Amino acid sequence: MATADRPPEQIDLGGVVLRRPRLADAEGLLAATTADLDHLGPWMAWATPERNTLEERRAFVQEDLDRPEGDRGATYLVVDPTDGTVLGSTGLHDRVGPDGLEVGYWLASQVTGRGIMTRAVAALAEVALARTGVARVEVRCDEANHRSAAIPRRLGFTLARTMDAEVTAPAETGRQQIWVLTADAP
Ligand SMILES: CC(C)(COP(=O)(O)OP(=O)(O)OC[C@H]1O[C@@H](n2cnc3c(N)ncnc32)[C@H](O)[C@@H]1OP(=O)(O)O)[C@@H](O)C(=O)NCCC(=O)NCCS
Repeated sequence: MATADRPPEQIDLGGVVLRRPRLADAEGLLAATTADLDHLGPWMAWATPERNTLEERRAFVQEDLDRPEGDRGATYLVVDPTDGTVLGSTGLHDRVGPDGLEVGYWLASQVTGRGIMTRAVAALAEVALARTGVARVEVRCDEANHRSAAIPRRLGFTLARTMDAEVTAPAETGRQQIWVLTADAP
């Protein structure tokens, strides 16, 4: 049963669902990422021919299944409920301090431009802020990644700061924006 401190297994976004992954999803994930390496490669460090393997996708799912006690993170797949096709991934990362959670995301190019990820991030921000002790949700993206930054901007996040960060993907500039939504935001 979902409680405020236990993220839901599934979230219906209308037309697509967010669902926690199972190991059997690794093939579907790989199919989605393989079809979109050109779209994902500029921004996602793992979206390279070398790292885009079934083994890595399985490890990605396994990491969610094996979360250590107290890790408040949660991975979700964006899934087409009509046929189970994997259309992307999003999730909460427990790596921005005790009172915050970060949201990360990518979407298959064939379903961009429809507001799916904006709705997904809104839903996960709500899940995060409902948790005991979480007062802040962050989106971190390179300042050159305008499509990514448009999502927190659209949702009323505030650009709190821009800082130097390690470049991990080819289109990144190394300047990372920190977008923040707080529990008391209007
Ligand atoms: C970042 C990424 C997920 C953004 O995808 P996206 O399709 O722009 O985002 P959304 O699904 O929220 O769709 C927003 C678009 O749908 C439109 N839209 C349609 N209906 C909408 C609705 N009900 N609500 C919000 N937006 C809506 C918006 O106007 C916007 O289109 P526009 O950019 O032409 O104005 C995608 O570009 C991606 O996967 N990029 C590669 C990986 C990546 O960069 N990840 C982030 C790393 S920080």
